[in-house]
Amino acid sequence: MDKFVIRGGNPLLGTVRVSGAKNAALPAMAAALLTEEPIILENIPQVRDIETERKLLAAMGAEVELGYGRAQHRTTICCRNLVNAEASYELVKTMRASTLVLGPLVARMKRARVSLPGGCAIGARPIDLHIGGLKKLGAKISQEHGYIEARAERLRGGRIVFERITVTGTEDLLMAATLAEGETVLENCAREPEVVDLTALLNKMGARIEGAGTPTIRVRGVEQLHGARHRIIPDRIEAGTFIVAGALTGGDLLVSGCEPRHLGALLQKLEECGVQVQTSGDSVRITGDAPIQAADVVTEEYPGFPTDMQAQYMALATQAEGTSIVTENIFENRFMHAQELVRMGAHVRIEGSSAVVHGKTPLSGAAVQASDLRASASLVLAALVADGETIIDRVYHIDRGYERIEEKLRGVGAQIRRIGEFLPKRVVSPGVAV
Ligand code: EPU
Repeated sequence: MDKFVIRGGNPLLGTVRVSGAKNAALPAMAAALLTEEPIILENIPQVRDIETERKLLAAMGAEVELGYGRAQHRTTICCRNLVNAEASYELVKTMRASTLVLGPLVARMKRARVSLPGGCAIGARPIDLHIGGLKKLGAKISQEHGYIEARAERLRGGRIVFERITVTGTEDLLMAATLAEGETVLENCAREPEVVDLTALLNKMGARIEGAGTPTIRVRGVEQLHGARHRIIPDRIEAGTFIVAGALTGGDLLVSGCEPRHLGALLQKLEECGVQVQTSGDSVRITGDAPIQAADVVTEEYPGFPTDMQAQYMALATQAEGTSIVTENIFENRFMHAQELVRMGAHVRIEGSSAVVHGKTPLSGAAVQASDLRASASLVLAALVADGETIIDRVYHIDRGYERIEEKLRGVGAQIRRIGEFLPKRVVSPGVAV
């Protein structure tokens, strides 16, 4: 298992470029199941979850070609000969977003067998809303041996009102509805940019979807979809993580290749904290080392403050003057990073769904453990301003969603390196290791 070794204290200076959005790329890859023709996706991030989705699709008989060299962020997926409409426990347990294949598989293959994901480090995360929605579209659902089986000769349009807002639930049912007979109206939908990006791809494939980005989405079903080429939007959470890194370390950091319009709630909060933020075109610049002021944060669905930035914001709050109350509204157990931050010297107290953070406390490097993707990012941020050396264990969590984060941070002046659990073999001559 790899670890990161980080020595804190360097202000970040220069330009860091944002990759494509993991959470937009995953549903886009699943959408390829809806057609026999090739789907070409650009700006795919090179992260572990994408590799897991590639394996998932390949196990169904899809041809998934990952680009290399200059085309390394492009992937072409062709689902002409699907042989197996199943997502196995082995893959679903490592990535819950695998359940995104449920809707497209029933729509195209008339049946899907998908493992139930089980619990997760950040909350229970059931998929009852995906299943309830498919039933509304006429699918027959059964459950045995830990798997959900859905069948439908052809899905038919219906009205689905989500009891609570779900991002992948909206995406899953949106995909299912594209091939259903007649019109589907989805209400109380997620408005995340990733839902809008998926809709853009589906419409290029011949779907007839209106209203993405609003709570009500209308889908007029079509007989079949065709191939398309699509560029994935920039990752707003990766961008946000770098922006917070810039604010914490007080340098002069340009976060380029992002979409500032998707970062509204975060940028507004940082301005409230006294951080100097300038946006222009596709970049955000964070400058200065003025003291950071405490500010409360409540996570909400988009366009509110993202739960996926809560852990990183908590790292910032430890360095803010005053008390910040960080309230987590989306997941019931997303404070695993708090205790690790406390081990580094932070004052954080958990009260129900809120964390009370008293700042500013000096942080000191320590051995800490990553528990999930965004918690790991929070520890990296804290380590960048900690005194001495921090060793972060289990960085495979961060590799699921951040592309070469250590190289990107090193490029703007951070002292961060990756070490393997075992010392690398010494190479004596090209290709010969001892
Ligand atoms: N929920 C249900 N039933 C369902 C679906 C969701 O009760 O059938 C609940 C969840 O337990 C949660 C809330 O609804 O309490 C919202 O969950 P949502 O379904 O929106 O989450 P998700 O679609 O599983 C996506 C992102 C997450 C991100 C959340 C919230 C992807 C692949 N994942 O998850 O990203 O935190 O939306 O914005 O898009 C991450 O990237 O680190 C990550 C966890």
